[in-house]
Amino acid sequence: QDTLAAAAERTGRYFGAAVAAHKLSDSTYVGILNREFNSVTAENEMKIDALEPQQGQFTYGNADRIVNHAIQQGKDVRGHTLAWHSQQPQWMQNMSGSALRQAMLHHVTQVASYYRGKIHSWDVVNEAFADGNSGARRDSNLQRTGDDWIEAAFRAARAADPNAKLCYNDYNTDNWQHAKTQAVYRMVQDFKSRGVPIDCVGFQAHFNSGNPVPNNYHTTLQNFADLGVDVQITELDIEGSGNSQAEQYRGVTQACLAVTRCTGITVWGIRDSDSWRASGTPLLFDDNGGKKAAYYGVMEAL
Ligand code: XIL
Repeated sequence: QDTLAAAAERTGRYFGAAVAAHKLSDSTYVGILNREFNSVTAENEMKIDALEPQQGQFTYGNADRIVNHAIQQGKDVRGHTLAWHSQQPQWMQNMSGSALRQAMLHHVTQVASYYRGKIHSWDVVNEAFADGNSGARRDSNLQRTGDDWIEAAFRAARAADPNAKLCYNDYNTDNWQHAKTQAVYRMVQDFKSRGVPIDCVGFQAHFNSGNPVPNNYHTTLQNFADLGVDVQITELDIEGSGNSQAEQYRGVTQACLAVTRCTGITVWGIRDSDSWRASGTPLLFDDNGGKKAAYYGVMEAL
């Protein structure tokens, strides 16, 4: 019987899912995970608040459960995420200036070193650009340490784990016309021209009626790839149901498959009931673990 992972592998790609450590004792969940996916992302367990709840004290237990499960099952791991304005521990939220910059770089170095050799791709920096038409950086405590905080994080990650692919990851960067997309594109272009170590751009791809799959998705992915980076769809979910949802899943998958450097797709959860979305049915498997039309839409495109 064909699976998402096997179908993706036929074109050298991966097909992943976000995983929660506390669900690894759910046999239906683990059965689908082991069968269908060959990459995992920790849904929350590798975020800053999870790994460094007190400054300088690292807690890897829940993240390790996910990483060890993945390694035992022969799956890749996407690391998510080393530097982010959100899900910071309280001590970091309270910091600013050079102390925060040093703490952030220490976190990047410690975590990337701890997992050296085990991570396929790291989301080094997550969600650093503002929404809307400004094309500006998002205001945050990290941004206020200076515009170069992003490249500093990438350099620290490269030094700590030279073989991991280093990604910039964001949402609402799918439509080529959007100012946010253009702003991230210019940053990646600048990093490549100055030799800042960046290997990939992650597109979260959380879609709904207010933020639909753009018709120009393939153009966006191709334009980024043409800068000399891989592109990955890192947190895919699409609100909806039935054939219209399946068509959108098929379209996203086709857009990735049409770009040589689109190396993989990750869905942000397994069953609809696993989704972070408060309502709706945005994933590929129903609450009972059954394959939805959306699953077959993806499979037809892979
Ligand atoms: C979400 C998780 O799915 C939730 O469980 C958590 O409460 C909040 O974060 N963009 C990201 C992910 O990069 O880390 C977010 O994950 C979803 C949006």
